[in-house]
Amino acid sequence: MPLQLHWFLPAHGDGRALSRRAGAGVRGAQRQPDITYLTQVACAADQLGFAGMLLPAGLFCEDPWLLAAALATRTERVRFMVAFRPGLLSPTLAAQMAATAQRLTGDRLLLNVVTGGDPTEQRRYGDWHDHDQRYERADEFLAIMRGAWSGDPLDFTGAHYDVRAAVTTRPPATHPTVFLGGSSAAAQRVAARHADVYLAWGETPPLLVDLFDQARLTAAAEGRALAFGTRFNVITRDTAEQAWAEADQLLGELDPAMVTAAQARFRRTESEGQRRMAALHDGQLDRLEVYPNVWAGFGLLRPGAGAALVGSHAEVADRIVELHELGVEHLILSGQPHLEEAYWFGEGVMPLLRERGVFDPRPAAAAART
Ligand SMILES: Cc1cc2nc3c(=O)[nH]c(=O)nc-3n(C[C@H](O)[C@H](O)[C@H](O)COP(=O)(O)O)c2cc1C
Repeated sequence: MPLQLHWFLPAHGDGRALSRRAGAGVRGAQRQPDITYLTQVACAADQLGFAGMLLPAGLFCEDPWLLAAALATRTERVRFMVAFRPGLLSPTLAAQMAATAQRLTGDRLLLNVVTGGDPTEQRRYGDWHDHDQRYERADEFLAIMRGAWSGDPLDFTGAHYDVRAAVTTRPPATHPTVFLGGSSAAAQRVAARHADVYLAWGETPPLLVDLFDQARLTAAAEGRALAFGTRFNVITRDTAEQAWAEADQLLGELDPAMVTAAQARFRRTESEGQRRMAALHDGQLDRLEVYPNVWAGFGLLRPGAGAALVGSHAEVADRIVELHELGVEHLILSGQPHLEEAYWFGEGVMPLLRERGVFDPRPAAAAART
């Protein structure tokens, strides 16, 4: 299967630096996530041939469902991978929203199920369930959401939901592909039972292979097969020196006190994925290239995807081909700022991937279907 490349929508704002306190001039400039700027990023992804865009979910950013609806009117092909937390809305309502979104966007909705990893944020939403309870609830949620799409009214009684005759009276003509992101055993169990694509944040290829192998076995025990995807940041330039100079600049701008505070926050996380991001660099700031062209610098300050592919266009293409050969079918990328970096990647790396036969930028409507 050709690789499907996705870009990231900076629904929390954008800029050149990792930290908002990067100093004067353009390095410290911040772009608000207003609809004009987000439209520019979405149009760039559309035009460059990305199959989809990941729209994150959480209190730090704008709401992804509403953004997808707005951006679909301004783009033609790119799909919208809406992240959402089961448990914050009714599964039947989610099925209905997804069906409406499919009709509004011309079948351009993808779903990314995320259960949340920060207890403080969950409580802001009024959710007191712990990590494993959230996955148990996600399991029931996905059974009901998929059932409601079937057109046959579904009765379901579980520990978290009790619904009668759940149904979308106008089911989607095409069910959105369901991605599930998480690195814990609980995430893999739920992905094995309900997801089409299992996602994990980018790590070294051997570590990713271990995660995918475990998920594959868990799915096989359920009599199912999963596709796999991962998510990296990217810094790609005409030469390796230029790319590493950009990475060094990002690192040099970090305030050590902010890094210490961020690492302490990540240690309190309930997310196995977040723990794995911290383990990638293990606090060793002088050894951030943890695998050729895999740099753990973003994870010093940023929650979530902490690793970046860094190198010349040819080196980045090599790493991506390696990931594809290891089973990655969906690669979600982001870079700072998302508009400029989309072009560095689209004009620098995509042609090489095309030449090597791993990337086929066909219309997203066909490409993103699994
Ligand atoms: C590709 C990818 C994207 C994710 N996007 C989000 C997001 O937008 N919002 C969020 O709260 N969590 C997001 N997550 C986090 C996880 O889905 C999960 O909620 C968290 O890591 C806890 O799960 P774990 O312990 O199984 O790793 C994402 C994870 C992955 C792999």
